[in-house]
Amino acid sequence: MSQKILVTGGTGFIGSHTCVELQAAGYQVVILDSLYNSQKSVLDAIASISGQRSEFIQGDIRDAALLQQVFKQYQFQAVMHFAGLKAVGESVAQPLNYYDNNVAGTVTLLQAMQVADVRTFIFSSSATVYGDPQTLPIPEDHPCSATNPYGHTKLVVEEILANLYASETNWRIARLRYFNPVGAHPSGLIGEAPQGTPNNLMPYVAQVASGQRQQVSVFGNDYDTPDGTGVRDYIHVMDLAQGHVAALRYCLANEPELLTVNLGTGRGYSVLEMIEAFSRSSGKPVAYQIAPRRPGDIASCWADTRLAETKLNWRADKDIQEMCDDAWRWEGRQSN
Ligand code: NAD
Ligand code: WQD
Repeated sequence: MSQKILVTGGTGFIGSHTCVELQAAGYQVVILDSLYNSQKSVLDAIASISGQRSEFIQGDIRDAALLQQVFKQYQFQAVMHFAGLKAVGESVAQPLNYYDNNVAGTVTLLQAMQVADVRTFIFSSSATVYGDPQTLPIPEDHPCSATNPYGHTKLVVEEILANLYASETNWRIARLRYFNPVGAHPSGLIGEAPQGTPNNLMPYVAQVASGQRQQVSVFGNDYDTPDGTGVRDYIHVMDLAQGHVAALRYCLANEPELLTVNLGTGRGYSVLEMIEAFSRSSGKPVAYQIAPRRPGDIASCWADTRLAETKLNWRADKDIQEMCDDAWRWEGRQSN
């Protein structure tokens, strides 16, 4: 009998790619998603990639009665928790909505797990918890801070998980701090599908390359970086998905632990380097203009990846060209 994993937010960007990798690794997947920021058709796409249909429950992680029923119906080995809201600007405008979804929703989920005695939890945290980094690369013991409500929700949940582990040491918890996930499945069948104007660089660049938008605004070229534009650790979403499988395997095979691990490549690329790489993938220049800095942005950010390598035996191996090639293939399917 293969092991069953509950994946909240499993029809979203990172969740869908992780479902594919979980199925490839022999796990059975049950997805719980409200479809607030994703489409039901993603389930068909996952099935055509993996040849397996995931079970799907449309619902909200804040619905305690539903969760109780789901945990009664299935015996899960673990929960991977992707469901949540992630737009920094929106979190400033709607803080209560962010705390409700990301913090209260996670507490409701953890309570349901506690009652059902399911105590393996993989959490989507973010490099945003490092604030403005004091050292590069950033190790996991770097001090944490947040400059916006979204970042605070990640910090608060990390803290809740630490408190929970301190009170009940039979939990296996992984707090995975993602850097900048980009790219898509190489089939072009699943990828990132932002609603409205993309907030993040790569989906915006993809829409310029496909002619949906005129040009990218490069937010600042006077940072203390080699070309003056912001530097980030972009990680291919398939590498990230495999990082989740590695974390799950680690948690299930080892003694209970509170694990905190960076998932990044350990290398940074500038905005201009990413635009150039995308131009190569799409075969056409991506128009851009230099614009003022975006408030709250930092100059540079990249991960210290040693802990992921030693603990999880995992490292990201896809380069920026592969990230852009795959994102472009996905974009082509979207815009046709
Ligand atoms: P996404 O929006 O594509 O996926 C999130 C999914 O959760 C969506 O399908 C949405 O419908 C669902 N959802 C939201 N609120 C829900 C609720 N209350 N109940 C049930 N389902 C709900 O986002 P993503 O990029 O795949 O991000 C997944 C997780 O990773 C999020 O927690 C996010 O904060 C975190 N993260 C993302 C990034 C990034 O850059 N994409 C970086 C670091 C961390
Ligand atoms: C990358 C670089 C921008 C858009 C955000 C969240 C973070 C995490 C990942 C969830 C920066 C520049 C961007 C544009 C630009 N998400 N840029 N023009 O800001 O590193 O991280 O997503 O946890 O919490 O803050 O990612 O893709 O927005 O920006 O010049 O139109 O691209 O200034 O240097 P960021 P991003």
